[in-house]
Parts: sequence; C-alpha cells; structure tokens
Amino acid sequence: MMTGSARPAVVPRSTPGPGARTDVWAASLIPQSSGRVSSSVIRELLAVTARPDIVSMAGGLPDERAMPADWLAECAARALGEPGALQYSTTEGDPALRSSIADWESAWTGRPTDPDDVLVTSGSQQALDLLCRTLLDPGDAVVIEDPAYVGAIQALTAAGASLHVVPQDREGMSTELLADRLAAGLRPKLVYVTPTFHNPAGSTLPENRRRHLAALADRYGFLIVEDDAYRRLAFGEAPPAPVAGYTDRTARLGTFSKILSPGLRVGWLTAPRPVLAAVTRSKQAADLHTSTLAQALLREAAADEARLQAHVDQVRVMYRDRAAHLTQVLAAAFGDRLAAGLPRGGMFSWAVFTDGTDTDALLPQALANGVAFVPGRAFSVVGANGNALRLCFASVAEPTLTEGVRRLRSAWEGHASRR
Ligand SMILES: Cc1ncc(COP(=O)(O)O)c(C=O)c1O
Repeated sequence: MMTGSARPAVVPRSTPGPGARTDVWAASLIPQSSGRVSSSVIRELLAVTARPDIVSMAGGLPDERAMPADWLAECAARALGEPGALQYSTTEGDPALRSSIADWESAWTGRPTDPDDVLVTSGSQQALDLLCRTLLDPGDAVVIEDPAYVGAIQALTAAGASLHVVPQDREGMSTELLADRLAAGLRPKLVYVTPTFHNPAGSTLPENRRRHLAALADRYGFLIVEDDAYRRLAFGEAPPAPVAGYTDRTARLGTFSKILSPGLRVGWLTAPRPVLAAVTRSKQAADLHTSTLAQALLREAAADEARLQAHVDQVRVMYRDRAAHLTQVLAAAFGDRLAAGLPRGGMFSWAVFTDGTDTDALLPQALANGVAFVPGRAFSVVGANGNALRLCFASVAEPTLTEGVRRLRSAWEGHASRR
C-alpha cells in the first residue's frame, strides 16, 4: 500500500522506446472483437457541430429547458438530507424509484409490473448493452429495423450479433416482411424495435403491427427488445400501448434522459425474471450500481407525478411547435424534392430527398455553409437510406431552424450545381 510519503512505483514499460512503438504494442492488446464497435458518425459530427457558427440539427440533445435545474436542485437537497445518499447502494436500484417506474410501466402496458421487475441502469443505453452482452453469443441472429438507433447497432455489433435487417415504412418496421423472413426459416434470438416516435425515423408502430409483432414472438419464441425512450413525448394523442401489452416475451427499456436529464444517466429495464436476474449479475460486474445520488434525486422528482407531468407537458408543447415549424420551412424550401412527414412525437424529423441527392455527399457542403445533419446511412447496417437525413429539432428554436433550413437549401443548390 502506498503511504503519504512513498513515491509512486515506476512501472517498467514492456516495450521501451518512442511513443509510436508503444502505440503499436498497446494496439496489439485490443482483441479483434473490439473492432466490431464502429465509431459513431454522430459523435464525430458532434465535434464539428459544437462550433457556435454551425446550426446543428445533428446531435440528439434535448433542450436545456427540458432539464428543470431549479426543481432538480430542490430534489437533490432533499435527497442529500436522507441517509445513504452518498453511499454504495444495491445493484437493482432505489426501491422507491423502482416502485414509481413499476407504476408507470403497469399503466402503460396494462400488465401488472412489480418493483422487483425493474432494474435501474446507468441510462437505458446500459440496459441495452448489458442485455446484449448477457443474452447473445457471437453469431446469434438478431433482427433490427432499418433505419435503426445507432446506439443499438453499436451494442448489438459489440456483442457479436448477426444482424438481420427489416426495413421500415412510414409506420415503422414492416411486420409482414418480418413474418415472411420467419416463415422462410430465420430464427432470431432478439428483435430490437423502437416502436414509438422512432429515432431517427420519427415513425410509430400502429396497434395492429404491435399485436402482430407480439404474436410472432409467441409463435417463434424470440424476445422483443422494446426501446421506449420517447413514449412521454407525444405531441397529440397518446401513442398505442407498448408491444409488451400484448406479450410477456418482451424486455422494455425506459429512460429519464428525454424528460428530465440525460446527464444524470438513469434509465431502466423490465424483462422476464430470469433475464432480469442475469442482466443484474452482469450489471454488478460492470458498475455495481447506478449512481445512488442520481437515483435519489429522480426518486424525489418521480414521486411528484403532477409536477413531472406539468413539466413534460411544457416540453411536449415546445417540441411540437418546433417540429411543426421545421416541417413547414422544409416544405417551403424544397417542395416535393424532399419528403418529410410531420413528427407526432419525439425529437427527430426524417427527411428523404426524392431527387436522388446523396446526403453523405451533401454533408461537407452543408457544414461549409454552417448547418449540420446526420446522413441516413449512419442508421443502417446495410448502407441504405443514402437519400435520407435526420434532423433534430428538439434543441433548436424556431428562428434558428429557419436559418438552418435556409443554409441547407443553399448547400443543396451548390451541391446540385456540381452534380
Ligand atoms: C432510441 C434510443 N434509445 C436509447 C437511447 C439512450 O438513452 P439513455 O442512455 O440516455 O437513456 C437513446 C438516446 O438517444 C435513443 O434515442
């Protein structure tokens, strides 16, 4: 053990010499399988889009006003007044927070969910990652939508899944196509879907497809991974009941990121008990538990359902107005050269050029003109969506959206004149 007066030991380098040689040696430590995790285009774009002169509709950031700092400060003060707020805690999560989450899940799915059915995780991304690591052997077949959430592609790829793509139309994953693939012999272990206010596609799976997907899970014996990050951000009527309302062969992912704070990193998983127990063991190995203080703070916020709902309602109105504005200025700027439906919830607009514009090729011109988006191919494992782009309207005020679309239009003109 090192005492205050002891000098830190000097660790001999196994490969002495200049930094470049050390880098080669260090790179040799990384197994082939780590190469499976592709660097996210979005994260690389974010480095550019932090520049103040860029109108960025690229990142998936909630608006700062969706993060009620004063209220959360009150919650933190109360949480810190309770014993144990700074202590280690259980892997499963804060009991009162699990109880609030279980109540929400019961109401949404129409199936009784017990607090013991809930595992609190470090963001829903951790739930997804642990689920993939725990359930998948390398080469296991998994079905994903196309386009799909980039974080899901990363987690599944890291776990060595063999990915099978089912395309989306305006209403989300085509369950008819999935049924055809299953009938032809495909036997996935998991089917990953974001059925509500999809990132990036903005789509919402209608009730008949939810029922169909659930029936397919029951018939073919796969687990549906239902990523429901955006459920509370409906602009109009509430979305259909979760897929988990129709089958218990479902693992559900939820999060506080989109309604209170992504930086607190708190999400959750509900799943059949044996799956939940196995994922809980994996979490223990990964990080022992989710931040005790972040959970205590959200426990306080979640306990005040009326205030939480009032806050979420404000966020919904703000995002609804921005989505409507973006859709309108896109239509005015591009007419029918760009097909962009009106989002019914969530944070994203998905637009597709009908004139053959390749959005990977358009991006450098757009960045030069001071506007950023994510090209559609970033959301595909098969190189699809080359004419599509994702625009995040959540954290951009209306006048800035107008300016962003003006820049996008002139980038498109510059690009089209060179084609
Ligand atoms: C569909 C979807 N799932 C999960 C996440 C991860 O959210 P978090 O880890 O912050 O809960 C995101 C974040 O963008 C998302 O869009």
